[in-house]
Formats: sequence, structure tokens, C-alpha cells
Amino acid sequence: MKITVIGSGYVGLVTGTCFAEFGFHVTCVDKDEKKISQLNQDIIPIYEPGLNVMVANNLAKGRLAFTTNVHASIREADVVFIAVGTPSRRGGGHADLSYVYSVAEDIASALEKYTVIVTKSTVPVGTGRKVEQIIRQKRPHAEFDVVSNPEFLREGSAIEDFMKPDRVVIGAETERATAIMRELYRPLSSPETPLIFTSRESAELIKYASNAFLSTKIAFINEIADLCEICGADVQAVAQGMGLDKRIGERFLNAGPGYGGSCFPKDTLALIHTADDYGMKISIVDAVVESNSQRKQAMSAKVMAGCGGDLKEKTLCILGVTFKPDTDDMRDAPSLDIIPSLMKSGAKIHVFDPQGQKEGREMLPSEVKWFEDPYDAMTGTDAVVILTEWNEFRALDFDQMKKVLKKPCMIDLRNIYLPSHVQKQGFDYLSIGRSPVYGFSRSKKTALRVV
Ligand code: UDX
Repeated sequence: MKITVIGSGYVGLVTGTCFAEFGFHVTCVDKDEKKISQLNQDIIPIYEPGLNVMVANNLAKGRLAFTTNVHASIREADVVFIAVGTPSRRGGGHADLSYVYSVAEDIASALEKYTVIVTKSTVPVGTGRKVEQIIRQKRPHAEFDVVSNPEFLREGSAIEDFMKPDRVVIGAETERATAIMRELYRPLSSPETPLIFTSRESAELIKYASNAFLSTKIAFINEIADLCEICGADVQAVAQGMGLDKRIGERFLNAGPGYGGSCFPKDTLALIHTADDYGMKISIVDAVVESNSQRKQAMSAKVMAGCGGDLKEKTLCILGVTFKPDTDDMRDAPSLDIIPSLMKSGAKIHVFDPQGQKEGREMLPSEVKWFEDPYDAMTGTDAVVILTEWNEFRALDFDQMKKVLKKPCMIDLRNIYLPSHVQKQGFDYLSIGRSPVYGFSRSKKTALRVV
């Protein structure tokens, strides 16, 4: 079976490479000539653990190819995946489907034999039907089916998520397309990986509903964390106690500075707009979006409180600016709100991020000072602020930190340390949804005040 994946961005590249790994012949297409030429030389435009090795291996074995030739690659394929971007449209939040529809036009011009066309991009309910109409209008007698097969990959663990998904969702309307999709995912099927066959509309909605539900879990635990700080409870204990109830589940209950990334912010807004298009209000998701946006603002006030309520003449060391670890992606990262807000209050900012520097330099204010080493970034600063939970921040050398920091103070917006451990090291420590602790070396008079 020959597969063509149109759009060699995050989802397209991971999907195409993983299918090639199964032994299928895959061609990944993109309009961007520079990107395709780099991919053909094993240069991967994104940071995703394990992807470079897998791309190189499959290129070498001749199972994976990269091209800008859309029409030829569609003609050869049995299955064409549409994996182009669906960004938020300006001034709204509707998903912008122009790239998807333009690929549908390309497919319509190129089809020569029966082909299954699969939307992998996250698209609102009804898009599969529209893609079918576009192709049918141009090619009334062509043989094809349009299937919805949403992707649930997380950045940073995309290969693992593709190879061992919780489920594969397939919205197919004919037996012929269903049989081909079953064959495509046969390497994954086992009792642990259910293949869910459903209608196209249901498949399209499963993706948005899943992302909105996960966003809701995060916004919920973040508000509970605020309550914990006021009433003296510990959000880690509350999340654990809740999560062990199988009906709730432990995952996605980590309180933090608010969700970011390329999916949750965009997909929650798009779901609100889809509901609106059908004349209904999806008020829970409205509340989640609002809660998350307020949270990012509240985080800079928290950092300010951790620094004694005033940031003038202060320098802060920010560790981590990407929206999560193991990615270089800065899209909708909480740091994009928090850092400018801290600067507005007078703080100077030093930053270290293991992968985020390239994108971060483009997206954060130019006054931010970048460092290649976390301890260099801390030198001469008033506090360390952990914004992203990269593994290399989990066992920092507190003795070295004490030598280079002006004061031993840590503000941990990802709760990667135990308060008691940090306190023993003599640090003041402010985290999320837990009581602040004051270093043994400091008097309570100079202790942190949380607003
Ligand atoms: C998400 C979905 O998980 C994935 O299924 C979908 O295909 C794409 O969107 P991704 O955006 O890569 O994946 O990252 P994810 O790990 O889900 O994290 C999203 C955001 O939520 C990050 O900013 C992360 O820090 C935050 N988050 C996640 C929390 O604050 N707490 C949590 O418990 C989990």
C-alpha cells in the first residue's frame, strides 16, 4: 500500500515516518522547498525525541521520500493523508480551513484510481463532507472516499503516542474505505489498541471534545490549586486523591501556569465557534478558555509576590520558556504572557531553555538575555523561576545556585520540587497550590507574602 502525506509539519512528518517504520511506502509532501530539501538530507525542522533517527533509517531503506510534487504523489497513492495546518482565523477563533480545501482541489485534479483520502488535520465537524463535495464537484465520476482519522499525538512523546495509542478513531462511511483503514492500522491492532470505527462527524467531534475535556481538567485543577493556597491544602495530594478514582483518572491533573501549545488554545476556541455555528453555547468550554487566560496573567502577580511584591531593580532567571518540555515549540506558551508582564513591572529577565532559544528569541521581547547554561543564567539574579518542567531542572545543584544567586529564592510554577527539600537547602520556595516555605537561613520577617 502506498501512502502520501500532504503537509510535512508536526503531524504529517510524525505520521508519515511512523507508517514508513511499519514497512509502508510513504511520500511526505510540502510546498516549502527548503524544508523538503532539508528533510531529504536528514535535517528535521522540529525537535521531537527519536524522530531524526527514524527519519534517517526509513530514508536509507527507501521506504520514506520527501517531495514538493503534490500531483505526482497523489496519483501514485492508495491513501492520501491531509495533514496541513488549521490555524485559528484572525479576529475570531474559527479554524482556518483554506489549506485543507486547497489540498482537496489538488486531489481533485490529480486522482487517477480509487483513493482513500484521510483528514488527519484537526478539522471542525462537517469538513470531511465539504472535502468530498469539493472533489466530487470537479470530478463527478472519480472513485474515492473521504475518511476522518484525527490524531492525538502529544509533542515530546509523539512517536510513542503514535506507536502505542490509547485508541485509533476512524470515521469512514463505506466498507471499502473501512477495509483499507483497518489494513493501514493492522500493525497496531491488538487487544490494547482499540480501533474505533464511527461516522465522519463523530470522529471529527471526538478530537475537539477530547482536547476540550483535557483542557477542562487542567483549568479545573488550576482553580483548585488557587483554593488550596488559600485554605492550606496541598494540590498534589488533592490531585492524587481525586485521580485514583478511575472515573476521574490521574493524568492531566498537574496544576501549573496554564495550558499552552498548538492544540488546546486553538481547539477550545474552534469548538466554541462550531457550537455557535449550530446555534448553541458551550458554556463550560467558554469558562475554561477564560479561566486559562486569567491564569497566565495571575502567574506574573505570583512571581512578583514571591519576590517581595516589587520587581523594580530585580533580575529574574527564567528556566524554561517552551509550552512544555521536550519540544522547541513556543506556540501559546505561558512564558509569552508571563515574561512581558514581569518586564512591565520592572524586572530584567535572564532565560535558559534547552531547546526554546531559536523560537524564543523571535517571540519574546528583545531585551530578554539568553544563556547557554542554567547557572550562568542565574548568576546575579534575585530569584529562579521554573516555567517549564524540563528534566534537567529536576535535580539542580543548590550549593552552586546559592553561590551565584543574590538570594536563595525559587518560584516553581510546575511543582517539580518537594517544598521540604528546597527548604532544607535554605531556599525560600513558592510553588503552585501548596503553602510557601521559608529557608531555614532566613528570618520569617523577610518571608514571602503570597497575594
Ligand atoms: C495535546 C493533546 O494532549 C494531544 O492529544 C493532541 O493531539 C494535541 O494537543 P500537546 O499540545 O502536545 O498535546 O501537549 P500536552 O502534553 O497535552 O500539554 C498541553 C498543555 O497543557 C501544556 O502547556 C502542558 O504544560 C499543559 N498541561 C498538561 C498542564 O498544565 N497540566 C497537565 O496535567 C497536563
